[in-house]
Amino acid sequence: MTVNLAVVPVAGRGTRLLPLTKSQPKEMLPVGRKPVVQYVVEELGRCGIGRLLFVTGPGKTAIENHFDIDAELIANLRETGKEELLGELAFEREDIEYFYTRQRRQLGLGHAVLCSRPVVGNQPFVVALGDSIIGRNAESRVVATMIEHFLASGADAIVALEEVSPREVVHYGIAQPKTAGGEVFELADLIEKPSVEESPSNLAVAARYVFSPAIFDCLAATQPGTGGEIQLTDAIRMLIERGRRVLGVRLNRDERRFDIGNFESYFLAFAEFALADPQLGAAMREKLGALLGREKGSPCC
Ligand code: UTP
Repeated sequence: MTVNLAVVPVAGRGTRLLPLTKSQPKEMLPVGRKPVVQYVVEELGRCGIGRLLFVTGPGKTAIENHFDIDAELIANLRETGKEELLGELAFEREDIEYFYTRQRRQLGLGHAVLCSRPVVGNQPFVVALGDSIIGRNAESRVVATMIEHFLASGADAIVALEEVSPREVVHYGIAQPKTAGGEVFELADLIEKPSVEESPSNLAVAARYVFSPAIFDCLAATQPGTGGEIQLTDAIRMLIERGRRVLGVRLNRDERRFDIGNFESYFLAFAEFALADPQLGAAMREKLGALLGREKGSPCC
């Protein structure tokens, strides 16, 4: 058995990024040279995913268009002598079959995953959030590692975890490991946005999961929480309460999570990718350095 199906929820409204997201999906926002969701798909392709199900919603057709093969554009580039740009469309030929389903009401991430049930059926699957990049060039192998642990352990869920600073735990779902240390460990609980004092660790849930179909019954039984949304974290807690095994896998140092969901982390992600750009990075460093120097020199307000 292997796991080669990924569900990518992209139906959220992205209200924290208004007005940017009023008429365009946040998953299509640029980070460096590519839209966020392209990094997600390329990462999954490298981890052996061959079938990808987007859970989409209103205003998200740009995502479907992006992954179509655009024969007209290809012909136009050839006819106008711009063959060197064809490489930029290589991702269209990624060896992945795409499927789409709709989340007809935006009732939260857990609900979006539940909407995939009729297509996923009775097989294990990956969930990768469409608004989060893992690793600077999305070269993370964490999903492949998680699949290996899933198959070897017989667990019902594997959750990627990232160390965050103790102050930041209030923004995330935080893991309570059963045993300390190691790259992979069993979880005793998950706490959504704990206070700094009550947080059981500084390991935050980081946008990648592997599930057995057992998660669907838990999602179906999960009551709406904050803001009337069905939380994926609550369904994972239910798995643990029902005696199922849930493991955490730590992201390594090169696998930082870039979350595009709020302006601060979006700006930081864009700046970091632009500074690392193979062609423009050096010039950007120089220009931004000069800009920062000027700001330092300017009178304080
Ligand atoms: P968020 O938790 O950031 O929610 O989504 P959101 O609704 O998009 O954003 P805000 O809070 O209004 O700013 C994490 C991922 O889950 C998807 C999003 O598209 C994003 O990729 N999602 C979220 C859904 O597919 N459906 C939902 O109902 C909520």
